[in-house]
Amino acid sequence: MRSPALFAIAALTARAFAASPGNIKHDWGRYPRGSGQLCEGSQGPQRPVFSRYIDVTASAENYIINFPEPANETVVTEFVLEASLQINGTLAKELVTGTQHISGTYAIYSQLCFPKGPTTSSTLQFLIHGGGYAREYWNNAPGYSYVDFAAERGYPTFLYDRLGCGLSDHADPLTVVQSPLEVAIAHELVQQLRNGAISNLVVEKVFGVGHSFGSQQLNGITSAYPKDLDAAELTGLVVGGPASSSAVAFAAFNLNIAAILDPARFGTLPSAYLTSNSEAGIQTFFFRAQNFDPALLTLSVATAQTLTIGEFLTLTAGISPAANFTGPVDFTIGEHDMPVCQGNCLLPTNLAAGTKALLYPAASNGSSYYVAPDTGHEINYHYSATGAYEHIHKFLKKNGL
Ligand SMILES: *[C@@H]1O[C@H](CO)[C@@H](O)[C@H](O)[C@H]1NC(C)=O
Ligand SMILES: *[C@@H]1O[C@H](CO)[C@@H](O)[C@H](O)[C@H]1NC(C)=O
Ligand SMILES: *[C@@H]1O[C@H](CO)[C@@H](O)[C@H](O)[C@H]1NC(C)=O
Ligand SMILES: *[C@@H]1O[C@H](CO)[C@@H](O)[C@H](O)[C@H]1NC(C)=O
Repeated sequence: MRSPALFAIAALTARAFAASPGNIKHDWGRYPRGSGQLCEGSQGPQRPVFSRYIDVTASAENYIINFPEPANETVVTEFVLEASLQINGTLAKELVTGTQHISGTYAIYSQLCFPKGPTTSSTLQFLIHGGGYAREYWNNAPGYSYVDFAAERGYPTFLYDRLGCGLSDHADPLTVVQSPLEVAIAHELVQQLRNGAISNLVVEKVFGVGHSFGSQQLNGITSAYPKDLDAAELTGLVVGGPASSSAVAFAAFNLNIAAILDPARFGTLPSAYLTSNSEAGIQTFFFRAQNFDPALLTLSVATAQTLTIGEFLTLTAGISPAANFTGPVDFTIGEHDMPVCQGNCLLPTNLAAGTKALLYPAASNGSSYYVAPDTGHEINYHYSATGAYEHIHKFLKKNGL
C-alpha cells in the first residue's frame, strides 16, 4: 500500500508533468464576464485564455475494487482479457465487492470560453469529454472545434479535465477515480456555475454535452439530479448495440500501464492508470477511414490520455433510465462507432432512434437523434464533425435554448 503522503506527492507531480508549455494562465479569481473576450479556441495562444483550477468538494458511493495496483504489464493484459474479452467472463463482477463512501476536494482544471462578440445566449454549454482524452477533445484543431462552433453562435462553453485526466488531480486510480465520484464532481460544477461561484456570467440555462464516458456521466447526472440540466446531448453513446462491441474495441486498443508506455508524459502515475500506445488500436477504437484527415489521427495519438482501472470497471455502471428527466435529449452517434455499435449503428435498426425510449422515457417531445455518416466513435475528429455540430445547434434552437 502506498502511503497517503507519497500518494499526494505523486498526484502533484502528475499535475506538474502535464502542465503545457507557455500559455496557461492560472486565474484563481472568478471567470470574467466575457463580452468581447475569447477563449483560446482551436486557433492557438493568440487568443486570451480563461483557465483555472476549481477546487471541487464532492462525495459519492464508489465501488470497492478488490484488485491491487498491477505489478507489471502481464497482469494488466490478463486483467483486460478476463474482465472484458473472455466470453461470459465473471472477473469484472467478482472484483467489485461492494460500495464505499469516498469524499474529498479535488483540483479540477477548467476553461470558460466566451464568444468574440457579446454572449447572445443565456444558455451555458457544459462539456464532459470521454475516456482516453482530456478537454482538448472539444477544441482540438481549427475546423474541428465544438467550442469555436458554439462561440460563433453566441454560446459560452465550460470544459474541464475530468478527475484523473489532463491537468486535473490524479487521485487513486482504483478507489477514487471512478464514475460515481466523477458524476458527483460534474454535479458540483453545474451547481457552482448556476450560483455564480465560478463566473460572474449569468447562467440561466445549462445544456449538458457529453462524449462516450462523458455521456455516461451525463446520463448519471440526469438520473440523480434531473433539474441540473435544461437539455442533454449524449454523443458517442446509444444503447442496444451488440454485447461484444466494447470487447472487440478493447481487444484492439491494447490498454496497458501508462507510466511504462509513455514515461515522458505519465511516468509519475500509479500503475492502474492505463493508456493505449498503439496507433492502430486508437484508429480501430475511435476512427473510420478514409473519413478523417490523417493529421487528426496523429494528433489523437499524441494527446491520448489515461483510463484508470476504476473507470474501466465502471464505464457502463451508471447507465440507467433517467425516469425523472423531462427536458429534451438528443443522441448523436457515428454510423460506424466501434466500441458502442461494433461498427454499424444501423443494425438491427437505427440504435440512436431507439435510445430515448430506453433511457429517457419522460424526455420532452423536442428530443431527437442524429447518425453522423461515415464516422467512427471520435466524432469530433472526422470530416463529419461540422455536420454533427450543426445538428446539435438546430436541436438547441428548436427547443428555445
Ligand atoms: C508480473 O507480476 C506477477 C504478479 O506479481 C508475477 O507473478 C509475474 O511473475 C510477473 N511477471 C513478469 C513478467 O514480471
Ligand atoms: C453466456 O451467458 C448467457 C446468459 O448470461 C447465456 O445465455 C449464454 O448461453 C452464455 N454463453 C455460453 C457460451 O455459455
Ligand atoms: C423520480 O422521482 C420520484 C419522486 O421524487 C422518486 O420517488 C423516484 O425514485 C425518482 N425516480 C428515479 C429513477 O430516480
Ligand atoms: C408528446 O406528444 C404526445 C402525442 O402528441 C403526447 O401524448 C405526449 O404527452 C407528449 N409528451 C410530452 C413530454 O410533451
